[in-house]
Amino acid sequence: MSKDVFPKDFLWGGAIAANQTEGAWNEDGKGPSINDAIRNGIVGGSLDNEIVDGRYYASHEAIDFYHRYKEDVALFAEMGMKCFRTSIAWSRIFPNGDETGPNEKGLQFYDDLFDELLKYGIEPVITISHFETPLYLVKKYGGWKNRRLIGFFTNYSEVIFRRYKEKVKYWMAFNEVNHLHTIPLAAGAIELKNEETKLQDIYQASHHIFVASALATKMCHEIIPNSQMGAMLSLSPIYPNTCNPDDVFDAYELRRRSLFYSDVLLRGYYPNYTKRIWKEYNIQVEMEQGDEEIIKQYTADYLGFSYYRSTTHQAGMPILGNTGGIMGLDNPYLEKTDWGWPIDAKGLRYVCNEVYDRYQKPLFIVENGYGGHDEINEEGNIIDDARMDYLNKHLIQLSEAIEDGCEIIGYTWWGPIDIVSAGTGEMKKRYGFVYVDKDNEGNGTLERRKKKSFYWYKQVIDTNGKVLFEDKLVQKI
Ligand code: BG6
Repeated sequence: MSKDVFPKDFLWGGAIAANQTEGAWNEDGKGPSINDAIRNGIVGGSLDNEIVDGRYYASHEAIDFYHRYKEDVALFAEMGMKCFRTSIAWSRIFPNGDETGPNEKGLQFYDDLFDELLKYGIEPVITISHFETPLYLVKKYGGWKNRRLIGFFTNYSEVIFRRYKEKVKYWMAFNEVNHLHTIPLAAGAIELKNEETKLQDIYQASHHIFVASALATKMCHEIIPNSQMGAMLSLSPIYPNTCNPDDVFDAYELRRRSLFYSDVLLRGYYPNYTKRIWKEYNIQVEMEQGDEEIIKQYTADYLGFSYYRSTTHQAGMPILGNTGGIMGLDNPYLEKTDWGWPIDAKGLRYVCNEVYDRYQKPLFIVENGYGGHDEINEEGNIIDDARMDYLNKHLIQLSEAIEDGCEIIGYTWWGPIDIVSAGTGEMKKRYGFVYVDKDNEGNGTLERRKKKSFYWYKQVIDTNGKVLFEDKLVQKI
């Protein structure tokens, strides 16, 4: 049975981030970002005080998108993408982060990239800060704990809004802002050295980020007519491990730890439950006069979110202050990826409904993807049925969410081309529809090769999703 569910102007696309793809980490005036000094990824890896000569850092070359973007954009266009999400590397524009004037060569790179996308009718969707704060802002200022970051960020935002106002309409301020709790270095550029002040630092940094997001939204609307500024969260749903009310309520509280960010950014005020948390943990968030009005006045236009998996939670597991990412308990009803991430397509429908009911603002699925091993067979092909199966199941659930009444702007597959894993720094955790010849140690020709899923995603886009509802989808390829 064929179904026509996806809106006519649905933004089908792909998403990447500058630090996981561009490479050219110190070319054309770019300064180092936190990612350029991290080994083994942002979840378990460590941040060096400075970049050590001869040491392998995956972001330094990544997949060399900086020099190969034309070839890659042509592949995205061949797939029929309507939009493409990437981030601007802050330290390409402001090498240290606190300069007053920008680096022209950095600005020129994104002009060229956006022109290349627009040449094919691909709408750029831009994240202003995706886990790649200039390293100097961490080392000199202590990252987002420091209020001065608001000024540096708004200065940077104003420069890029003015420069790209004719080219970029869809923006997001901070990638996965709720990860301030789990991976504060990536999301908040803060090195948590003191256990005792950890929560204090996280909430203070969160407040600065809320003010910066609101000010960026204000500027974005003033400078770019018809622009849209999104909040961006990682929204893995939380399931209670049992129907024991303790598990149920704990899971609810853990969920609120994430939704705290969208509550503030989309509704414009601190929710009441925050008061209790701050009191219990003795947290004093410093605010300046006018902050709360700014947050109230300039809320996000849409909610962008990443969705990969669900998490199963049991009472007693940490809710606040557990850094390093949460995997949760085993869910016996779900299969897992090669990296142990539960595959839960229905969870995507659940989250869409959950957040649409809560905010009634448009949703944009800006990351969803399958990271797994790929093999090149004797004929030189990559038959990635598991990736296609993941894609199909999630899109079918997304279509259900649309039928449930959720307003969904678009869907961008995470890593339409293989990129460096943010969490582990690996290349072999592959998400792409396009294979990149590179291994975890940095060896390889960087040659691009289409996988079976490349042709499939093209068909999905060409038919505006209708092909998903035909029988035996995967076997048809
Ligand atoms: C999200 C990030 O958390 O998940 C991406 O926004 C990241 O940057 C993606 O790449 C997948 O995670 P990983 O660790 O598999 O790269």
